[in-house]
Amino acid sequence: MELSFKHQVGLVCVILLFPALCSCHEYVTNSRASYYNTPDGLGNPRGACGFGEYGRTMNNGSVAAVSGLWRNGAGCGACYQVWCKIPEYCNGKGVHVVATDYGAGDNTDFIMSKRGFYGLGRNAGASKELFKRGVVDIAFKRVPCRYTDSIKLHVQESSKNPGYFAVLILNADDITAVQMWLKRQQRWEPLRRVYGAVFDFANPPTGEILMRFQVGYKYWLLPKIAIPANWKPGATYDTKLHPY
Ligand SMILES: *[C@@H]1O[C@H](CO)[C@@H](O)[C@H](O)[C@H]1NC(C)=O
Repeated sequence: MELSFKHQVGLVCVILLFPALCSCHEYVTNSRASYYNTPDGLGNPRGACGFGEYGRTMNNGSVAAVSGLWRNGAGCGACYQVWCKIPEYCNGKGVHVVATDYGAGDNTDFIMSKRGFYGLGRNAGASKELFKRGVVDIAFKRVPCRYTDSIKLHVQESSKNPGYFAVLILNADDITAVQMWLKRQQRWEPLRRVYGAVFDFANPPTGEILMRFQVGYKYWLLPKIAIPANWKPGATYDTKLHPY
């Protein structure tokens, strides 16, 4: 099909604007991808999402730093199918990566862990060739995540009970807001996004902490289980809530 210039411009607008407005999974975008080095080829445990050591091995280490898809941290934990475009080297189905970090490169949308970047190639030799190039043309689309685990809440080591509550949200993506139930006031109060997937709240109420999570500005997930009153910095609590 021949598209007129006007139609092409319209199409470009739709492709550029829609991923930000909806979590539609069918839009394919052309871009570029590169990779970063870690000693083990897995994720960067200091990634900007705040996933820490967990972020190293998420999705079997096939992870990426993203730039335009970062969305002030709401892009943390989001999943993408990424494939490259050199027929002799690139495999057709590409690789599934999870965003765990922020990273802007030379017009790249993804700076992948080596494990992830390796997955673009048809075979070991082809992947080696892709590594040599350093940056490759790709296409990508947002896809549903494959978290098999429920959403977990890791109380950050910087927290103090009572007085200060900071929490990392794991196994979720597209978290656009988090709120805490204030029992005495009988209302929800927003937490502040500190960075990535880490949110905090000064002077949290004593007693158990019940939070809810907004997904993609669209709906709220309400865990069945609250964080117990004796919560401890460094502990991880299971919400038993499965987002999929
Ligand atoms: C994780 O990646 C390694 C290296 O590519 C692979 O050998 C292993 O089978 C993968 N594990 C899973 C569970 O996919």
